This record gives sequence, C-alpha cells and structure tokens, in this order.
Amino acid sequence: MTAEIVERVRRSSRYRDVDPALLDRLAAEELPRARNADDAVKRVKRRLHQAVGAFRGERRGDLLDAVRARWRGDLTDPEFRAACAAVMRAHASTRERVPHLDTLYMGIWQTTGVPARLLDIGCGLGPLALPWMAVGDATYLARDVDERPLATVRDFFALVGQPQSVGTLDAVAEVPSERADVALLLKLVPTLDRQDPGASARLLRGLEVRHAVVSFPARSLGGRGKGMERTYRERLDRLVAESPRVNAVTETSVQNELVFVLTLDG
Ligand SMILES: C[S@@+](CC[C@H](N)C(=O)[O-])C[C@H]1O[C@@H](n2cnc3c(N)ncnc32)[C@H](O)[C@@H]1O
Repeated sequence: MTAEIVERVRRSSRYRDVDPALLDRLAAEELPRARNADDAVKRVKRRLHQAVGAFRGERRGDLLDAVRARWRGDLTDPEFRAACAAVMRAHASTRERVPHLDTLYMGIWQTTGVPARLLDIGCGLGPLALPWMAVGDATYLARDVDERPLATVRDFFALVGQPQSVGTLDAVAEVPSERADVALLLKLVPTLDRQDPGASARLLRGLEVRHAVVSFPARSLGGRGKGMERTYRERLDRLVAESPRVNAVTETSVQNELVFVLTLDG
C-alpha cells in the first residue's frame, strides 16, 4: 500500500525530483492517519509542500542562464554576483539573505575559521552565495532531500570549478558521515521540526564536524518579528539543552536571520 501511495505521488511532476526515502517515510507516516488511498496521497503532498515545495521558486527554464553568461572566471566580479543574487532573490528561503551575504559568512568564519571542507545540509540554493563566502578552493559538500535545487547547485559548481560533492540526503533518516570543518544548517531546524522534532538534535549528536551553524528566519516586517524571534531563540535553547556535545554558542545574527555557531566536542 505504501508503495502504491509513493507511486501515485511520483506521477505528479512536482515531486518526481524528491529523494524517494522522503516519499517512503511520509507515505508510511500518513497512511495510518488517512481515510483511504486518495486521502493518503493528498496528505503526503501536503507534507511535501511543507518540506520542500514551499521553498522552491517558479520553474522558469534554466535558472543559471544569466549566471553562465556573466562568468569570466572571477567570483568577485560584480556582474557575476548580481546574476547569482537574482537567482537567490527568486527563492523564498534565500531572498531575505541577499542584502547581508558578506556579513553573514564573514561573521560565521570569525568564529569557525575559514573552512577547508564545508557541509551544507538542506542547502537549497544557498550554495549560490559562494561568491560572498570567500572560501577559496574549499571542498563544498551540498546535501538536500530535493534534487531540483541540487541540479542547479551541481551545474553552478561545475561552472566555477569548485571542488565539491553534491547529493541527496534525507536528514531525518540519516546523519551524514562525511568529515567537515563546518556544517551549515541554515533555516533547516524549523523545516525538520515539522517532519521529526528529534531530527536536529540527532544531527548535532552525530555530525563529524567541529562547528555547526544553525539559523532561523527573523523577519521584522508585519509586526510578527518579535514573537517569531522569541520562539526561535527558545527553540535554539532547547536544541542546545538536548545536545551535550555543544560546548559553546556564539551568536552571529544578521538582519532578518538569527544565526548561531555551535562549537562541538569531538
Ligand atoms: C528553508 S529551506 C533552507 C535552504 C537553505 N539552507 C537556505 O538557508 O537558503 C529548507 C531546505 O531544507 C530542505 N529539506 C527539507 N526536508 C529535508 C530533509 N528531511 N533532509 C534534507 N533536506 C531537507 C528543503 O528541500 C529546503 O531546500
């Protein structure tokens, strides 16, 4: 029965690119709650929208056309950066960050040092900020449960010649075993919480990294900013309390994003 639900969900082109592990997991969770197969398909699609669909932009041809056209071999070229920023602005999860890219990454590296290996979990299109990261020829390990942004990230790294490994990962089902200096979990905790409230703490327990960077949206528009910020600060406190490996927390927030560097014991 689970297989039938997965098969029906995969028939929709919207979710064909999602890691099959996530489809299996959501179908197994929703089937016992559903009234019938149609209801189960609807429920799985709703969960998929929360997990991945909500962060995708419109599907508009090849996202990298303008980025490719402006590539002259220099990540600091303003025209190239403008093209990368335009792609990030088209996506809900990266849009708000665009004005603060320099400060965001420099603030993080001040605590962690510039990483030689960087693991980006639930990366979405975040790696398109590479021109602002100033990590030189660091190896960039990009992971997401959604193959759609990963395809763009893979092409982007190939274009600029970044040492990399790009692949799907369901961070609820699996803790990545690769060693890295820094793991980025940018705006990932709220997304994982909706799938499994224990998933983020499991990541912090098992990651083979010295520093994990956890961030949360902190929109100040519309008067919702304060309550949202309080909620996410409390979430961070609980996450740290559940994670005995965390021995220091350094806040490096920028406008619109609460950012915390967690230093982990070995
Ligand atoms: C809010 S977006 C953040 C994207 C990026 N880290 C950023 O800050 O720009 C959440 C990302 O997590 C991914 N995601 C959702 N569930 C996941 C899971 N179980 N394992 C890995 N990635 C997941 C989504 O596909 C999406 O790219």
